[in-house]
Amino acid sequence: MYFLGIDTSTTSSKALLIDEKGEVIAVASSPHTLQTPKPLWSEQNPLEWWDAVAASIKSVLEKANISGERIAAVGLTGQMHGLVLLDEVGNVLRPAILWNDQRTQSQCDEIHRRIGKEKFIQIAGNLALTGFTAPKILWVKENEPEIYKKAKHVLLPKDYIRYKLTGEYAMDKADGAGTILFDLKSREWSDEVLSALDIPRAWMPKTFEGTEFTGHITNEAASLTGLKVGTPVAAGGGDQAAGAVGVGAVEVGIVGLTVGTSGVVFATTPSALIEPAGRLHAFCHAVPNMWHFMGVMLSAAGSLQWYRDMLASNMSFDELLKEAGSIPAGSEGLQFLPYLSGERTPHPDPLARGAFIGLTLRHSRAHMTRAVLEGVSFGLKDSFTLIQNAGLGAITQVRASGGGTKSILWRQILASVLDAELVTVNTTEGAAYGAALLAGVGAGVWADVISACKASVKITGSTQPDLFQVDAYKKSYSLYQELYPILKPSFEKM
Ligand code: XUL
Repeated sequence: MYFLGIDTSTTSSKALLIDEKGEVIAVASSPHTLQTPKPLWSEQNPLEWWDAVAASIKSVLEKANISGERIAAVGLTGQMHGLVLLDEVGNVLRPAILWNDQRTQSQCDEIHRRIGKEKFIQIAGNLALTGFTAPKILWVKENEPEIYKKAKHVLLPKDYIRYKLTGEYAMDKADGAGTILFDLKSREWSDEVLSALDIPRAWMPKTFEGTEFTGHITNEAASLTGLKVGTPVAAGGGDQAAGAVGVGAVEVGIVGLTVGTSGVVFATTPSALIEPAGRLHAFCHAVPNMWHFMGVMLSAAGSLQWYRDMLASNMSFDELLKEAGSIPAGSEGLQFLPYLSGERTPHPDPLARGAFIGLTLRHSRAHMTRAVLEGVSFGLKDSFTLIQNAGLGAITQVRASGGGTKSILWRQILASVLDAELVTVNTTEGAAYGAALLAGVGAGVWADVISACKASVKITGSTQPDLFQVDAYKKSYSLYQELYPILKPSFEKM
């Protein structure tokens, strides 16, 4: 028996095949393009995702030399929060507005004004932030009334793929919460928020727990992908919740630390806990009847990617990291602020900007590289500290994943900045792997998500904090924390 996890991320769609022991059999992916038609805008064409998904499924089956007949279930994951608007018969009405689009600050302010900030946090568990889905719907209503008039269905990226695979309008509860139109406690659409924002409840799909089946592969999807007609499709979860399943961050005390394009600190919560000021995101988990906190940095490894592409494109990442390793902790006073795409946690500010601060003639490229690694680590410490103080009890383990944590140097810096041991795991395929496990639980191979993770996810290594670095980083971090509040007024004028 085999399971397929499908991840519709911002950069690509990926199909990952696992067997009933949780072993990865094959992976295939196909890239997406991204459109930024105006500053702060970020959009994609949902039909491009569907072409990429269909191609990836075909290709993964070919690579594994396995017929679609042998796939017992499919699980879905993908970029969260993106708005896909469909008309009555399921046609895409406009390009999807993505999680990293920053155009909707005035709609966020309007949501707080209509419902009251405190009350809104109590219902949705979160502040209204530009990344989330609800303000995007209000933006379309205000700016594209002709399109809004035709709208009949609201979906998220992976749920558009679900619609193309099964013909059903459905969503998982983790991503439902990420729209901020959800009542966090009851794990269902909030009539109060929907009616305050004049969004018809009929536009919102039915929601399911991560392991539940939401529909079955249609004739048309079968002929385009090679899957068998009638194969069940599990709800799955947004990329962060499914990614947490993929590394086994499914129990209270085990924290997931992801350093991908964005950076995330993720902690499972046993009930619908909220951070009273809304500084941490609080969403439903892909694990049935569990929730989670999450701090999100918008440019984590994305900062290093930008830095290399713009300032050192003739160098490989390995070469850059090697020379950064020769620079002392603290980069001799050089600081980097990683707010290249604005920020979410702990500074929900689309206008925040990136910066190198404290440059002198002594500073070399190697200092600058190290400052990027350290600045991103300090930003992640902001989220880590909020989670440590959120009343969840001790953090017993930090599981590191994502491209950035492949670097020994970056793992060492992170362990010393966080002053915590980091462990790595054998499962490195991220959210797609979690989605495949959720499908396996749905099909009954594992009794529940925790058992699926215990059977499949193994610890492969550990990085301890370095005591000398810990001291040096306490000083640099306190300086880092001073910089954003001082610069905020200037960022606004930029
Ligand atoms: C999480 C978030 C990002 C996107 C990236 O809140 O916005 O992780 O899901 O794909």
